[in-house]
Amino acid sequence: MHSRARILLYFMVAAIFLIVGITVRLPQLLEGSAPQGDGQVAIGGPFELVDHKGNTVTDKDFLGSYTLVYFGYTFCPDVCPTSLQTAATALEMLPMRKSNKVVSLFITIDPERDTPEVMGEYIKHFHKSLIGLTGTQEQIKQAAKAYKIYYKKVVEEGKQEDEYLMDHSAFQYLMGPDGKYLTHFNHGITPEEMAKKLSEYIR
Ligand code: NI
Repeated sequence: MHSRARILLYFMVAAIFLIVGITVRLPQLLEGSAPQGDGQVAIGGPFELVDHKGNTVTDKDFLGSYTLVYFGYTFCPDVCPTSLQTAATALEMLPMRKSNKVVSLFITIDPERDTPEVMGEYIKHFHKSLIGLTGTQEQIKQAAKAYKIYYKKVVEEGKQEDEYLMDHSAFQYLMGPDGKYLTHFNHGITPEEMAKKLSEYIR
């Protein structure tokens, strides 16, 4: 008897979990909709930076648009131009209705060399939605911290001090119109894969 009562209890607990689970998920299931961003992921947050025209901008200026956020630097020999080109191609693959809702932010982690002028010249090579952002070392540090981006100056042996490279994380983040994290793209994703995923998230 004792073990039968216990089995019954297990069934009841399982049934309650199932009912609660379905009820909570139901609106989402019915909508058959875009995946919801994980609000628990603490990526993004307040920043104050300087755009490629020399204007001070903050995270608040981009509320209302989806933002594609990438940290890198203009002297980057390979990774940054590849990532920015992949994003540009992916955005071109989207219907205009969706791509028009996206602002792309290229935030330098090398403000020493990446002045607003340098950023302005560089972004011309990529998607028209791209905005170049720089700032003081402190502003960049704050922004990188908010987005959990690692970066470090590297001077290779036998090179001049000013020929340094920057080690850096190479994720691209998609943030929602509310400024919250939706998803990210790893370096090496194809434009097709990126376009597909973007299309799923952008309403
Ligand atoms: Ni790079």
